[in-house]
Amino acid sequence: MCTNYVFKLLLCLWCGIICDLANSYLNMYLNSNEVHKLLGLDMELYYVRGGKINYFALNFVVPVPPKVDALHFTWKSLAGRPLPYAINVEVSNPLALGTPQLNISDIGTIPTSSQIFSVSLPCSGVVVAEVNIVLIVNITLPNANVTSLTFRRKKICRKIESLPNTHVLVNNISYPSNSVNIFYTAVGCATFLITTLAFCVIVSYVNGKKDRRDPNDTSQAHMTYVTNASRNPNSTSSYGNFRRMPSYSLIDERSKDLQERITELTIQRCRVRLDSVILEGTFGRVYLGTYSEENGTEEEVLVKTVTDHASQIQISLLLQEGMFMYSLNHKNILTILGVSIEDQTAPFLLYPYHSYKNLKVFLQKCKLNSEGIAHTLTTQEVVDMAMQIIQAMQYLHKKHLWHKDLAARNCVVDDKLKVKITDNALSRDLFPSDYHCLGDNENRPIKWMSIESLLQKEFSPSSDVWSFGVLLWELTTLAQQPYVEIDPFEMAAYLKDGYRLAQPINCPDELFAVMAYCWAVNPEERPTFTQLQVCLQEFYAQLIRYV
Ligand SMILES: *[C@@H]1O[C@H](CO)[C@@H](O)[C@H](O)[C@H]1NC(C)=O
Ligand SMILES: *[C@@H]1O[C@H](CO)[C@@H](O)[C@H](O)[C@H]1NC(C)=O
Ligand SMILES: *[C@@H]1O[C@H](CO)[C@@H](O)[C@H](O)[C@H]1NC(C)=O
Ligand SMILES: *[C@@H]1O[C@H](CO)[C@@H](O)[C@H](O)[C@H]1NC(C)=O
Repeated sequence: MCTNYVFKLLLCLWCGIICDLANSYLNMYLNSNEVHKLLGLDMELYYVRGGKINYFALNFVVPVPPKVDALHFTWKSLAGRPLPYAINVEVSNPLALGTPQLNISDIGTIPTSSQIFSVSLPCSGVVVAEVNIVLIVNITLPNANVTSLTFRRKKICRKIESLPNTHVLVNNISYPSNSVNIFYTAVGCATFLITTLAFCVIVSYVNGKKDRRDPNDTSQAHMTYVTNASRNPNSTSSYGNFRRMPSYSLIDERSKDLQERITELTIQRCRVRLDSVILEGTFGRVYLGTYSEENGTEEEVLVKTVTDHASQIQISLLLQEGMFMYSLNHKNILTILGVSIEDQTAPFLLYPYHSYKNLKVFLQKCKLNSEGIAHTLTTQEVVDMAMQIIQAMQYLHKKHLWHKDLAARNCVVDDKLKVKITDNALSRDLFPSDYHCLGDNENRPIKWMSIESLLQKEFSPSSDVWSFGVLLWELTTLAQQPYVEIDPFEMAAYLKDGYRLAQPINCPDELFAVMAYCWAVNPEERPTFTQLQVCLQEFYAQLIRYV
């Protein structure tokens, strides 16, 4: 199964970024033993093959599992004589990781027969740290040119004495000895390369059988909404008050703005007729309905509302979140049409309806019907849908709005596979298993969130890019649950250790590499939506060419 990736990785056919190292004078690679230890794959990984340098592989920072304490490289001169080299290793945190020892000398020659050399990585055990290791090899070529190769590794060093339980747990979860499947792939596209060559992404997946779920966890899935609103002592909190428009207590600075928006969008309740329930949660409802305009024309609408059991906070959240896309105008964004707030009833939020289905529900139905005549998505369709979402996101970001909850559940799709992104109003209630509380009363889409959003609650265009990667994964898996066996409480540690979603079956390498690239730890290393657009367009053009 992996040979395909290896092929891609080594040859980088897709982008053709390969350098000829003054003809074929050298092989340098990780043998399959080493790749197995580092990545869990039985394959060789060539950095230099026949003199051709694989920059994708070189630029990829390989995480070193805690139990691996030495690296091994294999090399061989193909020049017909030994080639002179000079080698040097640097570590970013000498306190955590002592000077690495090599079993070859710093200056010497590469033999004409294969030679393995090792680099020890002795964690001191004194401090916990993530240590960057940089190995630089200068090789003098037969024509006297010197080529410099840089290899990067990242090792997590842990404290040795009296490991607290939690550390052991993280350790075991991250690297269960026999249940790790790691997928490795690489991809490129010209635009990305302008900004970075670092393109190889490692993605892994714990296929653990153990269910580490806390039994209380399911109860937490039905969280309570506690927003700033509920904590604000100034907020008037009686349900009755809430329903009188002028007395909305919507808390943050935007609340004034929100009231203005609501006033602007207000429509008369009597013009709305609810026809059928499309989606239903514990208190949230999405209806198909009809809106009659004054001139008598009728329009089909989607209506988001709540039942009478909903609390003030839930109503407040519905309005706040439902108003997020207000006044936006883009073909791939579902913009709110109107709001109806009247005494004694829950608010109605109206959206245009053109036989839209919720994208997550739509994808899951694709799966259910796959044995029949029902529609299954082709790669081309998936890429096309992804590009529509990208366009919406580009527009949103141009307006300086971060979505913060981009996911299949927050998109709609019509019969022609035209996709629109929506706000996330009611999603917590309609898709409770997609949101989790991590003990802070805040119900968040943990498994769609970037690592910095998860840890520091930082949001940016790059954190939306991360979520887009997960959305792309949903499109290719027909909306499976991401990281289904990872406890939400463990997500941050899991991501920190370098684990990501696995490549879905039938997902082309190119597409998977795009998503994996969205999950770079460092937000700056993630692609922008503009880059994603160019990359997917290129891939789409290829798909069409070969069809
Ligand atoms: C490799 O060459 C670079 C310059 O090309 C130099 O800065 C570096 O010190 C050299 N490294 C070794 C290990 O000789
Ligand atoms: C370096 O050590 C590895 C084992 O750790 C061994 O396989 C290899 O042959 C050694 N290389 C040299 C040059 O001694
Ligand atoms: C490296 O070798 C090529 C010929 O293979 C030569 O054209 C080039 O000038 C050399 N570069 C340096 C820096 O010596
Ligand atoms: C967890 O790891 C510790 C040490 O790393 C080991 O002693 C223990 O047996 C492991 N537990 C499981 C369940 O694998």
